[in-house]
Amino acid sequence: MSLIEWKPEFCVGNTAVDLEHSELIALINDLHATMLRQGNQEQVVEALGEVYAQIAAHFALEEKIMRDARYADYESHKADHESLLDQLLDIMDGVEEDGSYDEPRLSASLEHWFSKHFRTHDAKLHRKL
Ligand SMILES: [Fe+2]
Repeated sequence: MSLIEWKPEFCVGNTAVDLEHSELIALINDLHATMLRQGNQEQVVEALGEVYAQIAAHFALEEKIMRDARYADYESHKADHESLLDQLLDIMDGVEEDGSYDEPRLSASLEHWFSKHFRTHDAKLHRKL
């Protein structure tokens, strides 16, 4: 079962952004499946690295769009991006150190973060653009 199912309320009103978001969700679902399979440390590190890189690239692009548009809520939106990247880095450190990861905790926090971020920060941003 997928960790995060795409929901209509995730749509931010920009087709390209929605497509990127749905691709991020697909990657996260792959990571979740790898973890549930009790994938070995190397596979989990690789899947986490892929998720981190794609998410970081997506955020960087979105932050550029916000800077170019002199978006008023840039700082708080960026801070929310950074909180997710920090969480992912902590998890990656743990996995690389001793192979341990708290799958239920990671799944819950990713699910929570994405559902909330799409519906709040991203929806607000793309309404303004
Ligand atoms: Fe965002």
